[in-house]
Formats: sequence, structure tokens, C-alpha cells
Amino acid sequence: MSRGMFVTFEGLDGSGKTTQLRRLAAVLEAEGRRVVTLRQPGGTPLGDRIRAVLLDSKSEAEVGVIAPEAELALMFADRAQSLKQVILPALAEGAVVLCDRYTDSSEAYQGAGRGLGTERVLALHKAVCNDVQPELTVLLLPPLERALKRARRRNDREVKSSGTDEGRFEREGEEFYRRVHEQYEAIARREPKRVVMFAEEASIEAIGQRILEVVRERLRG
Ligand code: TYD
Repeated sequence: MSRGMFVTFEGLDGSGKTTQLRRLAAVLEAEGRRVVTLRQPGGTPLGDRIRAVLLDSKSEAEVGVIAPEAELALMFADRAQSLKQVILPALAEGAVVLCDRYTDSSEAYQGAGRGLGTERVLALHKAVCNDVQPELTVLLLPPLERALKRARRRNDREVKSSGTDEGRFEREGEEFYRRVHEQYEAIARREPKRVVMFAEEASIEAIGQRILEVVRERLRG
């Protein structure tokens, strides 16, 4: 049985991480590896319901403004469920698990963006997720301005085409995203072995190739 590996993808909304995750999954699957992909919040039936509450702008009309602490707790409820139901069983079977966002997102968005603080997020991670961390985190962090532009365009397109608005997070102001961006940089500095950061402007292909090299290296090691 080949060795399992837990890889997460992180970055601002509109950073291209979902595209890179899918490309990597396709390449590894073509090589005959078992690959499990999921996103957070979501990825389990319970998680999908939590996701709908957290991301749908309309849910604010139903449940009122979600308190930052409640938002954080819901993110971790989702994470605990996907660890137990999807991530840990897949790793035990030797799969490569590719997860679109994980605890770094909570540290960046709730910890820094909402101002709840890193300590609180990491304490919850320990308590709720048994401190399970990915072996590798691919952090796509292009310059802030570019990421913001893409996120806005995408949100407008989605509202027009499907009528649903998952844009609660994307309506946050620039200052919010600046704090998120800075926290991601801080995480990368703090954990250089786990976090591989792509901050430069490069083509999807070039970044994809580099990600593949890093993943292959780690799978060998
Ligand atoms: P999603 O639609 O998955 O977009 P993206 O492609 O940007 O990942 O949206 C997830 C949103 O949820 C995104 O704005 C970040 C936010 N989020 C948090 O604030 N904290 C978290 O712990 C996670 C997992 C996501």
C-alpha cells in the first residue's frame, strides 16, 4: 500500500487554489494513486449544512449576524466532522488527501480577519482536531490587489448565473483581507517546512508544475 499524505491548499478567495488542487488530483490519479479531495467548510453531509449557514448571504436574514466566535466554532465543528468521517479514514487507507482550506484559514480569517487571535484558534485546533496538521500546505498568495479583483468578479458572476450568493466573506472590506493576507505570510514564516508559499505571479501551468515537484519529493521522503 502506498503511503498516505495530507495536503492542504490555502490562500485568499480567488487565488486559484481550487484550480491547482484539481490539477494535482488529476495527475496523481492518472499515476494510479488513490486521491481524496474535499473542501472546508463542507465535504461531509453535516459540513455541507454548516457551509450553507456560514457562506450563504441569505442566511444572515434568517439567523441574524453570526458572531465571530460562533463562526469560528462552526468552522471547527465542520473540521472535526470531516477529520473523522473523511480525512483520517482516507489517510489510514494510504490515500493522498487534498483539502481545500483547513485550520490556517481559521487562523487567517477568524484569528486575524475577525480579530479573534491566533492563540484562540490554535487552542481550538488542539482541543477539537487533536492538533492534526497536514504534512504539506500549498499557500497561493499572489499580491492582495489581484486576488481581490478576481474574487469580486467571480462573486458577481455566480450571483448572476445561479442566483445563489455565497459571498458573505467576499463582501468584507479591503482591511479585512489585508489582515488575512498578513496572517498567511506570518504562518508561512513560522512553519517554513510545512508551508510552501507561491507569492509570485506565474502561469497556472508553472505553479502547477512546481506544486507537483514538491508533492513528489514529499511522497518519496
Ligand atoms: P469558498 O467558497 O470555499 O471559497 P474559496 O474558493 O475562496 O475557498 O469559501 C470559503 C470561505 O470561507 C472563504 O471566504 C474563507 C472562509 N473560511 C473561513 O473564514 N475560515 C475557515 O476556517 C475556512 C475553512 C473558510
